[in-house]
Amino acid sequence: MMRGQLGHFSPAVLLVLSCFLGSAFSIDTSAWVGAEYQPARSSNQDWLYHWDGYKEEVAREIPMIKQALSFTAFRVFLHSAIYFASPERLMSTMDEFLEICQRSGIRVGFVFFDDCWSHEGLDLQKPCQPTKGLHNHCWMASPQDAERLNGVDHFKPYVQEVVRRFQGDSRVLWWEIFNEPHVTDPYPQGNFSEALRAAAFGWAKALSEKPVISCWNEADDTARGTNTSNAYTELNDAHQYAQPWNGISNAVFKNDTGKMKGGLVTEAGARWYQGTNSDAGSPLTLIDWLKKLRKNPAAKFVPGVMIDWEVMVSNSNTRWHWGGQAQDQEPAIPWHQHLFPDGSPVSYTEAAAIRRYITGKDEFLYFNDFLNDVPNPGSAERFLRLDAPFRPELTLKDGLVEMALWPDTAATVRLKLRHSAEDSYEIALDADKKTLSLSRGGKVRASFNVSSLDCGLLSGGMKELKGAWNLLRALVDGNRVQVWLNPMYPDVFPETLPVPSGPRVPIRAMPPRIDFEDPEPLKEGGLEVTAEGGGFLDYFSVLPPVLYGSDWPGRGVLYS
Ligand SMILES: *[C@@H]1O[C@H](CO)[C@@H](O)[C@H](O)[C@H]1NC(C)=O
Ligand SMILES: *[C@@H]1O[C@H](CO)[C@@H](O)[C@H](O)[C@H]1NC(C)=O
Ligand SMILES: *[C@@H]1O[C@H](CO)[C@@H](O)[C@H](O)[C@H]1NC(C)=O
Ligand SMILES: *[C@@H]1O[C@H](CO)[C@@H](O)[C@H](O)[C@H]1NC(C)=O
Repeated sequence: MMRGQLGHFSPAVLLVLSCFLGSAFSIDTSAWVGAEYQPARSSNQDWLYHWDGYKEEVAREIPMIKQALSFTAFRVFLHSAIYFASPERLMSTMDEFLEICQRSGIRVGFVFFDDCWSHEGLDLQKPCQPTKGLHNHCWMASPQDAERLNGVDHFKPYVQEVVRRFQGDSRVLWWEIFNEPHVTDPYPQGNFSEALRAAAFGWAKALSEKPVISCWNEADDTARGTNTSNAYTELNDAHQYAQPWNGISNAVFKNDTGKMKGGLVTEAGARWYQGTNSDAGSPLTLIDWLKKLRKNPAAKFVPGVMIDWEVMVSNSNTRWHWGGQAQDQEPAIPWHQHLFPDGSPVSYTEAAAIRRYITGKDEFLYFNDFLNDVPNPGSAERFLRLDAPFRPELTLKDGLVEMALWPDTAATVRLKLRHSAEDSYEIALDADKKTLSLSRGGKVRASFNVSSLDCGLLSGGMKELKGAWNLLRALVDGNRVQVWLNPMYPDVFPETLPVPSGPRVPIRAMPPRIDFEDPEPLKEGGLEVTAEGGGFLDYFSVLPPVLYGSDWPGRGVLYS
């Protein structure tokens, strides 16, 4: 989408003008909101090669993504080896994929090259199997080192054929030449990646009216000790895994080369991962920053954002942190990713905040991210210390109540629903006894042994980094109370996990830990959270009593 001061010229004049003035135009990316996409079962980019085995799943996942997140854009990684294996097949796959995305109103930015993760080992005949705990264990750098021996020009047909084929296609948003080129690593990264990035920028630009972009930032590597001082990107292609977001001082606004036409945060933050010492730019802090930019006349633009790396909780295993070890337990809350394969969001609160940011439609009955209790111009992470009872001002009848909480050592966190002086539903999370229970009138009606979970319940002193954030969600609807605690990827696969090229396996809606039906339900009442022994809330929200995923035609069917 081009933006400019065009006044009253006719479309024909505009067309001519835009040819002459092209470089003076800025590119408005603000409506590009999404994340990297690969199907949940895939472990790396090779799903594009095995498209026939994946397309049914892609067609099932993408409408679920739209429903839960309202995303408008995907960032999708291609691979040079997939192109050279069969150029025509890659392009027909891209065409079919774009068609599925278009049906859900999602447009795509494609990435050609990437220096991250494995530089050898891509075998298109033998998909890489993920290892539990290892983040992006199967991700394949593009090109692989062996391909680089062919020299830079070898890759020209890959870039030019793809760009030529889709240049006029409105389903494509941008061409991204290189993700995170390792410009200071030795050959065949280093100068090879730099030379490839520079050449490919020219190859794409020669054919394309669409934005051609590249990492890092302004693609100016002078500061990294190399001499690439020309900007091989039209947008400041920024990555950030930290907060605060710093308002208009964010790196995405940098324009030292004077060649930036705008900016796009192609990797915008991640959650606060268990065992690490800070929030990595979690979705609610990101949305807070974007909302403030929208209202700030001093902001040069509002950037598009690809949030928390990846859409689907997938076999990429990026639910674990970069530093994850083989056989680590499932995380209590995924580090990256937004949607479990059944279509249920990792966080209903984040999903609704993202939908609200994109569509302007506010579905929250109650929302508090505790970020702005005192002025927070940088959108730094903040949370509420549960020294006193927290009582959101809301009378609850039916709703989906969700919070991220960090209980202190041996603490008991209690969430009261439809609460009054007489009675309430009380969900108690006991970090000492490792139990989750639901009671009414002081009598336990259902309980769950939290030690039976692979992820467990994470509790302990925040200063000593003993505990971490956990996710607690309750659906109160009529006479039924369902409770989820730390939902995990394997929970939706009752028999076995689906793997690349593996057999079809059954899937189910994310199962609650507690599912209680009350013959004489409480009518309505207040909400209250307390933490005996201490604890923190990262956010608290109430949404209408709607689950995503469970009502999809895919429920209970075979998932291949
Ligand atoms: C990179 O540097 C090596 C020497 O370290 C040289 O042999 C090679 O030709 C260079 N490649 C490119 C693409 O500049
Ligand atoms: C960068 O360029 C300068 C002079 O133009 C040269 O002295 C220096 O060796 C170059 N550095 C690299 C890493 O190529
Ligand atoms: C970057 O700087 C150039 C030169 O000052 C300016 O023309 C251009 O508008 C700037 N880009 C953005 C996105 O502000
Ligand atoms: C809870 O689960 C753990 C792990 O599965 C088990 O060792 C323990 O005995 C269980 N506790 C109770 C009270 O059932």
